[in-house]
Amino acid sequence: MSHGEKSVVLAPSLLSADFADLSSAIQAAEEGGAGAFHLDVMDGHFVPNISFGPALVKAVRRRTSLPLDIHLMISEPEKYLGEFAKVGGATLAMHIESQGDHRKLITEARRLNARPGIAISPDTPLSRVESLLPEIDELIVMGVYPGFSGQKYIPSTTDKLAAARKLLDRTGRSIDLSIDGGITLETAPSAARSGANFFVCGNSVYGNGKSPQDNLGELRRAIAQGPPR
Ligand code: DX5
Ligand code: ZN
Repeated sequence: MSHGEKSVVLAPSLLSADFADLSSAIQAAEEGGAGAFHLDVMDGHFVPNISFGPALVKAVRRRTSLPLDIHLMISEPEKYLGEFAKVGGATLAMHIESQGDHRKLITEARRLNARPGIAISPDTPLSRVESLLPEIDELIVMGVYPGFSGQKYIPSTTDKLAAARKLLDRTGRSIDLSIDGGITLETAPSAARSGANFFVCGNSVYGNGKSPQDNLGELRRAIAQGPPR
């Protein structure tokens, strides 16, 4: 098993936080050792849900110095890459199922001084992204159908992650393998064993009634040691 040289990053998804009190959500996650924030941008077209846009990303940017991992669940990413880079997106991840020439989008993200990422939905085979991997900095493998937080992890994702890790290692570059959707104390360890190093956590950080600090600590332990007995 190889994780490349990448260290484990926990990236709370603010979609699951209280939008009226994002400052507290951000601070709590920082105290809990979050390594990045994951921001789910949804346009009501690529996915059935609408979340938020650049204005909210800009507000979050002012409250934290952690990197912002922007997950673009939008039909036409080429229209908005510039805006999301301007408001502080460190990584701009576009879905392979969205419109546009993804190779050009990756080049454009780099020109904007962002890390280019590609996200892949559960029903899309890895062969669709394979030729792009040498050019990206993050591959987001979805553990659920994009659109909503709090869904159940699709078990076959674990095999997809292992296959993705192999392909990423073959590039000889250090590329984050992110797992997004359905991550819990039970699912995080198997995703880690399959080579994921970047864990997006929505409900498991903000949605279970416990403090984000405690939740992040438990997730980190589970990833290091396996699930709780
Ligand atoms: C789903 C989003 C995920 C989601 C994760 O479309 O991309 O980032 O917010 O939430 P949980 O961890 O609750 O599945
Ligand atoms: Zn996401």
